[in-house]
Amino acid sequence: MDSAAEVKSILITGCSTGIGAHLARGLRDKGYRVFASARQETDVKKLEAEGFESLLLDLSSSDSINSAVSALFQKTDHLYALINNGAYGQAGALEDISRTAMEEQFQANFFGWHELTNLILPSMKSRNSGRVIYISSVLGFVALPFRGPYIASKFAIEGLVDTLRLELRHTNIKLSLVQPGPIESDFRQNAYLSFQKHVDFEGSDYRQDYKKMIKRLNSPNNAQFTLGPEAVLRPVLHALESKSPKARYRVTFPTKLFAILGRILPSTWMDKVLSKAAD
Ligand SMILES: NC(=O)c1ccc[n+]([C@@H]2O[C@H](COP(=O)([O-])OP(=O)(O)OC[C@H]3O[C@@H](n4cnc5c(N)ncnc54)[C@H](OP(=O)(O)O)[C@@H]3O)[C@@H](O)[C@H]2O)c1
Repeated sequence: MDSAAEVKSILITGCSTGIGAHLARGLRDKGYRVFASARQETDVKKLEAEGFESLLLDLSSSDSINSAVSALFQKTDHLYALINNGAYGQAGALEDISRTAMEEQFQANFFGWHELTNLILPSMKSRNSGRVIYISSVLGFVALPFRGPYIASKFAIEGLVDTLRLELRHTNIKLSLVQPGPIESDFRQNAYLSFQKHVDFEGSDYRQDYKKMIKRLNSPNNAQFTLGPEAVLRPVLHALESKSPKARYRVTFPTKLFAILGRILPSTWMDKVLSKAAD
């Protein structure tokens, strides 16, 4: 149980690498009690070796989510914030994506986030306080080719959060979407793994496009305007600490630019801009 009431507890999913790992360290440095979860035992052990209270939590498994939440509430009676972060990007043209591949994408990126949030909300409601932060993406509001399952999952999260924010409007539980553009992490390597798992590269009409995509996913060079994960920590801190957290935080130049263009350009023009950006 929390000994000092003023120490705020936070659960973060997907802390093995990237944004989640950085948020866990950064928020602990700011004095939060961080429950850093990961879906693999080896990563839970690594996080514990770093001094974190860690939980095994695989968002694709209802059993895993329920066990993690039970374990969490044995350690603390109240969670100040949940950061829904753990996710991956299923790469591939939509024509090459099976129903199974799409279902797997939504299990991790959407259903898992929804189920976990619903298990945490009653505790927040009992105190009428809390923050839920969703790491969405620029691809939560614009599309690019060959990232369809991921884009669909992030658009879905945006719709879910907009609805839940309205439903919770009479409470003091605040929801924020953080929308990063390119951020240094293991995201591209993991997208390549998902591509290899589910897409028949050689049998595809898109194999020429895939050659380019594979080069990009395996390149050591970052895309233009890529920022480090600290760029995500700043808005997350605001979402946690401001009396009036924003509904959306746009992180990186491409996110800010596409947010403006999406409002002013007709879809046909926007498609041209996005096709150019994808080349
Ligand atoms: N990097 C970017 O450019 C970027 C841009 C916009 C938004 N985002 C978002 O930022 C968040 C973090 O991604 P990242 O960039 O830090 O990528 P990352 O380095 O690949 O980290 C993703 C994390 O999610 C975990 N994860 C994947 N599937 C999971 C599952 N079923 N259950 C629990 N955890 C799972 C991964 O665990 P394993 O190590 O076990 O796979 C890893 O800890 C994601 O929501 C992503 O959509 C990233």
